[in-house]
Amino acid sequence: MGSKEESQIRDLALAPEGRRKIDWAAAHMPLLNTLRERFEKDLPFRGLKIGICLHLEAKTAYLAEVIQAGGAEVTVAASNPLSTQDDVVAALVDNGIYAFARHGADDAEYGAHLRALLDRHPDALIDDGGDLVGTLHRERPEQSREIIGGCEETTTGILRLRALEREGALAFPMIAVNDAYCKYLFDNRYGTGQSVWDGIMRTTNLVVAGKTAVVVGYGWCGKGVAMRAKGLGARVVVCEVNPIKAIEAIMDGFEVMPLVEASREADFVITVTGNRGVVGKEAVAAMKDGAVLCNAGHFDVEIDKEALGEAGPPREVRRNVQEYRQKDGRRLYLLAEGRLVNLAAGDGHPVEVMDMTFALQALSLRRIVEQGRQWEPRVYPVPEDIDREVAKLRLATLGVRIDRLTEQQERYLRSWNLE
Ligand SMILES: NC(=O)c1ccc[n+]([C@@H]2O[C@H](COP(=O)([O-])OP(=O)(O)OC[C@H]3O[C@@H](n4cnc5c(N)ncnc54)[C@H](O)[C@@H]3O)[C@@H](O)[C@H]2O)c1
Repeated sequence: MGSKEESQIRDLALAPEGRRKIDWAAAHMPLLNTLRERFEKDLPFRGLKIGICLHLEAKTAYLAEVIQAGGAEVTVAASNPLSTQDDVVAALVDNGIYAFARHGADDAEYGAHLRALLDRHPDALIDDGGDLVGTLHRERPEQSREIIGGCEETTTGILRLRALEREGALAFPMIAVNDAYCKYLFDNRYGTGQSVWDGIMRTTNLVVAGKTAVVVGYGWCGKGVAMRAKGLGARVVVCEVNPIKAIEAIMDGFEVMPLVEASREADFVITVTGNRGVVGKEAVAAMKDGAVLCNAGHFDVEIDKEALGEAGPPREVRRNVQEYRQKDGRRLYLLAEGRLVNLAAGDGHPVEVMDMTFALQALSLRRIVEQGRQWEPRVYPVPEDIDREVAKLRLATLGVRIDRLTEQQERYLRSWNLE
């Protein structure tokens, strides 16, 4: 049976609209286009099955097609059912890719989709957030041994992989794509920064200038969200638990204070910590009427929905906006049910940013299938030559040239004896 019979998706008839979206993304992804040409020639994935669990929208879809062009049989599942775009998934299936994903799938269906992907017995994986690799380790230890290795996209997934590694339980090598310079410096910072505000603005249609934006977590994503809030004219307050990051935020020109204090003044609260229960009862009690809350961290556990809903269930007042009335009459608005706002209420990161991230993914996956059988089951950084190659490719597509070290300078930098 082919992909059209076996896949579980919303509706194959949506494929033409999905194809237009993928074509638009592909036209703005010069790095992936270069890799596609290389892969079509070298066929590095010939005879292999590749399982991909990512946010299923146009850019990811193009990554799946580039890997397919390298000779792989590709199967995709969603890393978050609210970010799945049904038309894009239909276009993939129409193009011979197996897909198990539906927008809005509940937890049980989401889990069933991950298992359906694993039933196709992939040789290598790309994961985002660690749910696929987690399911494999929890439920199918035998099958884990079939896997050559894989790549993990995000901070949260890498935390889980490192936990598995610490327990000696990781069954195959994984490359931590998130930790490459060409990922977090651009994707986490500029990608999240721009797309989170795009998601908030298109969902609420509210002005940002002159308002107070509270950014909780000043990691790579938080820095981008704070930077763009400032650019939009907001007063920005940062909340942190790490004293070093707190100083960094102050030196970057932001106010820093505990969340409960910041909550009293917040018009927007954006969590981006990768942690759970960050906005809890106390913060909810302190918020003023009309505050808008959203999350950009990987899972929908950062804002405590039980604390928000103590006085009763929410009602949808606008697409993707839920109003939680408090006992004292205050109205608090949660976007996209607390899931990643840029993906669940927008199109995710800008195309050119994902072009770099997915070039890292494609090259790392190639390295894993070519060499991973000889590697210990550990979490590996992206090889430095791949990180540099992606940066060079990006500069080339921008038409930017840079200087080179002279031989004398290289010698100078390598030596300890400076006479
Ligand atoms: N929305 C997106 O498209 C997108 C993109 C990349 C990463 N992510 C996700 O965003 C999250 C953050 O990623 P990152 O790369 O910025 O991680 P990071 O580790 O660089 O930063 C997280 C920051 O949150 C802080 N923090 C933790 N608990 C906190 C708490 N209770 N209160 C205040 N601060 C707290 C930490 O001290 C740290 O500085 C992760 O879940 C990651 O997977 C989302």
